[in-house]
Amino acid sequence: MNIGKAFAREIEKHVEHVLSMTEIEAMIEQPKYDEQGDIAFPCFRLAKHFKKSPVQIAEQIAAKLEHPLYEKIIAVGPYINGFLDKKSYSKQIVQQIINEKDHYGSKTIGNGQTITIDFSSPNIAKPFSMGHLRSTVIGNSLTHIAKKCGFEVVKINHLGDWGTQFGKLITAYKLWGSETSVQENPIPVLLDLYVKFHEEADENDALNQEARAWFKKLEDGDKEATALWQWFRDESLKAFSKIYDLLDVSFDSYHGEAFYNDKMDETVDVLNEKGLLTLSEGAEVVKLAELDMPPCLIRKSDGATLYATRDLTAARYRQATYHFSKAIYVVGQEQTVHFRQFFSVLEKAGYQWAKHMVHVPFGFILKDGKKMSTRKGKVVLLEDVLQEAISLAKRNIEEKNPTIENKEAVAEAVGVGAVIYHDLKNERMNHVEFSLEEMLKVEGRTGPYVQYTHARACSILRKATDFNNDVLQKYRLGDEPGLSDSYSWHVIKHLRDFPHVVQRAFDDLEPSLIARYVFELAQDFNKYYSHVKVLTNDAERTARLSLVYTVTVVLKEGLRLLGIKAQKVC
Ligand code: ARG
Repeated sequence: MNIGKAFAREIEKHVEHVLSMTEIEAMIEQPKYDEQGDIAFPCFRLAKHFKKSPVQIAEQIAAKLEHPLYEKIIAVGPYINGFLDKKSYSKQIVQQIINEKDHYGSKTIGNGQTITIDFSSPNIAKPFSMGHLRSTVIGNSLTHIAKKCGFEVVKINHLGDWGTQFGKLITAYKLWGSETSVQENPIPVLLDLYVKFHEEADENDALNQEARAWFKKLEDGDKEATALWQWFRDESLKAFSKIYDLLDVSFDSYHGEAFYNDKMDETVDVLNEKGLLTLSEGAEVVKLAELDMPPCLIRKSDGATLYATRDLTAARYRQATYHFSKAIYVVGQEQTVHFRQFFSVLEKAGYQWAKHMVHVPFGFILKDGKKMSTRKGKVVLLEDVLQEAISLAKRNIEEKNPTIENKEAVAEAVGVGAVIYHDLKNERMNHVEFSLEEMLKVEGRTGPYVQYTHARACSILRKATDFNNDVLQKYRLGDEPGLSDSYSWHVIKHLRDFPHVVQRAFDDLEPSLIARYVFELAQDFNKYYSHVKVLTNDAERTARLSLVYTVTVVLKEGLRLLGIKAQKVC
């Protein structure tokens, strides 16, 4: 039951229709301190009508209120404060979680509508940058959150697989490349070729001409050029897949920029028909001055289309194919203007659905306070980063927990989980300081801390050999009361909040809310565990173990929403 509603309904009976239910609900507050109860209603707005002081009104109304959910309802100054009956309320929450298991916190707001989420989207033949890692991790978490809210989700990897760089790459490959070296180590080798091309082309302009010629061939569908392009794409994708496998990320579509090659004319025609295209220095653009934005470049004077043209085309394709009710793009903040521009162009073209397109930007990854770059040899290969995190996690396990089963799998879950959690723990617009050491700490706001807490809770349950599903179900259905000590109460209140946190994380497209939530729940649980002897054989043993069980459920589900595996130890 919604405690706010129950409380508001009681108050409503005594305020003589001065305030509506909605108004009362909106005025309800949560007291800062436990001593002040669990819910509070301020009486200031009633003073005029009752011609009394808010303090007097609070006293008068409080004296008349009672509700089975509340142990007491009293006036505290000008407020009416409700104190939940801990035993029955705890029981209710625990019962609900036992009942709903990993569906606890699920919503139906999506009502089966579709959301497309464009994320990760690295560029072929270039390394998977730290920015792409952020996009991958944030986007993946948003897909889980959106599904939890009842949406159908289409995960799209809008690969950067087209552009003049392929002319350069083909030229460089033909001059200096070898098939085996690309196959063995595609990304670094292709990147080296690309870098070498630029170094040499600075001295020798003939190379630039050759590159242009190769790109032209590619655009015209030349066999050799197309085969090389396809091969570069395949090899790059294989390398990216290793990262996706480690992160446990998958996509429904890998339609990248090239997919829209034959669909672009239609987009240009539409813009033309709507009278939106203007010539500017030979190029066709859509002017956006009235929106205080630079013009959106649609087609260059040589007929070449641009990044924005592809995004416009992709958006039209996605609406026609998936009928999205919302389209999300998880892309770094440096592209904010691009997204504002192309969303505006779609709106100007009269597409109502363009209003439901959202750019979800995020901050940079910093190393020693500076933006981590993939350019000029400063490349950090993401796969190496993940592997290093895994081996560090393994070293920690060898030191502290050498007897643990499935060491390899646990080390992978912890290492990768640490990287993901570190990315998601702060609001996404914040910059992230990259530090493997920091992210792998077992104490502090880290993935391993939450994962170990989950594992600890599981191991408590394993130790209680008499506590099984039958006992749990019996407790759920029976009228044995819940717990009432202050440590379990903090855990209960956190458990209660989970569904609201899921909702807010979806509304704000902000996985950090879930990351913060699981950390706080883990913290409260650890406090509980260090103060209360859970396994003691007394009347409350089953209630305590049931609480531990619900913590494992919610921690695991919270971690899942972030894209992190709870270790498979229970
Ligand atoms: N490939 C682009 C980049 O690395 C990101 C693409 C994002 N998605 C999109 N629809 N524009 O910068």
